[in-house]
Amino acid sequence: FDVSWDAAAAEKGGWSSFMAKEVAEQPEAVANTIRGRIQGDQVVIPELDGMDELFLGINRIIITACGTAAYSALVGKYAIEQWARIPVDVELAHEFRYRDPVIGDDTLVVSISQSGETMDTLMAVKYASERGARTLSICNTQGATIPRESDAVVYTHAGPEVAVASTKAFSAQITALLLLGLHMGRVRGTVQDASVDVAELGALPEKIAKVLESEQEHVTQLAGWMADTRSVLFLGRHVGFPIALEGALKLKEISYIHAEGFAAGELKHGPIALIEPGQPVFVLVPSPRHSALVHSKVVSNIQEIRARGARVIVVAEEGDAAVLPFADEVIRIPLAGAMFEPLLAVVPLQIFAMALATAKGLDVDQPRNLAKSVTVE
Ligand code: G6P
Repeated sequence: FDVSWDAAAAEKGGWSSFMAKEVAEQPEAVANTIRGRIQGDQVVIPELDGMDELFLGINRIIITACGTAAYSALVGKYAIEQWARIPVDVELAHEFRYRDPVIGDDTLVVSISQSGETMDTLMAVKYASERGARTLSICNTQGATIPRESDAVVYTHAGPEVAVASTKAFSAQITALLLLGLHMGRVRGTVQDASVDVAELGALPEKIAKVLESEQEHVTQLAGWMADTRSVLFLGRHVGFPIALEGALKLKEISYIHAEGFAAGELKHGPIALIEPGQPVFVLVPSPRHSALVHSKVVSNIQEIRARGARVIVVAEEGDAAVLPFADEVIRIPLAGAMFEPLLAVVPLQIFAMALATAKGLDVDQPRNLAKSVTVE
């Protein structure tokens, strides 16, 4: 009689793995992260009360993080620049720390960490403080070291994440960054009317739930067919680019399959040489409602890889018929604003990685060689 197994099984609440449970908990993780941070039709993060002067005075933001958190940071860059009109750089914490970055008291260094204990990220925060920068952390673990070392903290409320591969914490990090962008945009006067974005935020949990419901079976089946695949590529543009990187990371982490994410526009500058008949490629197609031009560019990327024999798996919004003639598989996501789409598009990629690892008989929660939190440099 193995008591520990029973306890673990009970903690999983009937799910086959913590990862499966955590993927399913994303609507709740996002809703909990938004809760208490909307006032009327504006985003107001109460923890940042008293920081208006700082947000008005800074000239630059550097977001620093590792792994999945660094990909959420890339989505944050697009959102913060768009809404708050402050230049944002994203830098891996272990790179930032060991060079001589130009930072000072006009710089806000935002760190992102699920655990709040990642040593590389912690050292980057300490380094930024020593150099006179102000620091703000986005963290999922109450009272962890990184938030304690920072001037301010915005907690994500994803709940405990057990699986090594991050899923619901990633969604909560993007949510927190969108909130931060809208909060700073309001303070700086660059977002006059946030009502549409606030409505988009409010609708997110239900839309994520819809993707989980409508695509789980389809994507799981697809992964089952692809269990022998040796390499998968992911293409995205704009905020779809970080999601392509994250889709590839999930696959590497838990399925041990070679995977690469690329900016779709970069295809012709190198990666297209990788395309040979049968090569699976996920393409994240941005809504044509956001930009007909960007959409058409991605559709022509699809045509280019299809012409070279790629097996094209498209993630596109409901009703986008332009992708149909060139796709082998179409995964549908609900309509959403440009900055909100990543939270929907990432879900099928998480399910795909999980289903493929399962089809290969691997331990989804505890992949080889990886730790949930890396507390050494
Ligand atoms: C480790 C984990 C990754 C995680 C990264 C950053 O490498 O395996 O899943 O993304 O650390 O972790 P953090 O807790 O700082 O978000």
